[in-house]
Amino acid sequence: MALETGGRLSEVRTRVGASHGITDLTHKLHFYDQWAPDYDQDVATLQYRAPRLAVDCLTRALPGPPHTALILDVACGTGLVAVELQARGFLQLHGVDGSPEMLEQARARGLYQRLSLCTLGQEPLPSSEGTFDAVLIVGALSDGQVPCSAIPELLRVAKPGGLLCLTTRTNPSNLRYKEELEAALDRLEQAGAWERLVAWPVEHWELATSELEEGPSTSDRHGFISGVVYLYRKQEAAQAEGVRPGA
Ligand SMILES: C[S@@+](CC[C@H](N)C(=O)[O-])C[C@H]1O[C@@H](n2cnc3c(N)ncnc32)[C@H](O)[C@@H]1O
Repeated sequence: MALETGGRLSEVRTRVGASHGITDLTHKLHFYDQWAPDYDQDVATLQYRAPRLAVDCLTRALPGPPHTALILDVACGTGLVAVELQARGFLQLHGVDGSPEMLEQARARGLYQRLSLCTLGQEPLPSSEGTFDAVLIVGALSDGQVPCSAIPELLRVAKPGGLLCLTTRTNPSNLRYKEELEAALDRLEQAGAWERLVAWPVEHWELATSELEEGPSTSDRHGFISGVVYLYRKQEAAQAEGVRPGA
């Protein structure tokens, strides 16, 4: 049994580790299309905790009864974030993703009222300004996925005073992207578009797919990589429009 578990883990590590090396968005989305039917089982094997951590962080800060909140799950994948939201009573859920096959898995869950195909960084979100009480993006902020230049678009569709929850990995191989992301987040805060409520470092994010990914600096003996959950509140008089990372 232990051997079986170990064999499966090493198979998943190989498959997911290979995807981390894909830095071209078209290829990455194609990879997700192929991976979609096995995604949930594979990330469970890797003890992927980001959806639960992000939803815990968001829902502690979200005012009002859960069923009244309209929430957008960006890069929703197969809908693991929706599972966590629904368990806490959040029922008005919209999702977008750039992979048609991941969206198909999400649709089969029946938890989203609306699902749309949208490639962040190449096209705008299919929603008007100020639509959502909360916007989440979980597991999609890294090289070859959602570029930092798409962050103002997430802000645009949040209501003034609405919450935005973002996650990224903080293991050595994602540190360059994380630095770029933090610079973009900070610039928007300095421009008065939003205020940071939380930056929550998490040591046990998911199992590393390789020693390289884990990095020599880690003190973790269980093979986990680390991550971070950010929570922002959009300013009432947001000035996000026209604010672009690098501006
Ligand atoms: C690791 S999965 C995370 C899915 C889900 N949020 C979760 O935590 O289980 C990343 C998802 O982001 C989507 N994605 C990556 N880059 C994207 C982009 N530029 N625009 C839209 N979706 C993207 C992929 O198709 C995939 O479904």
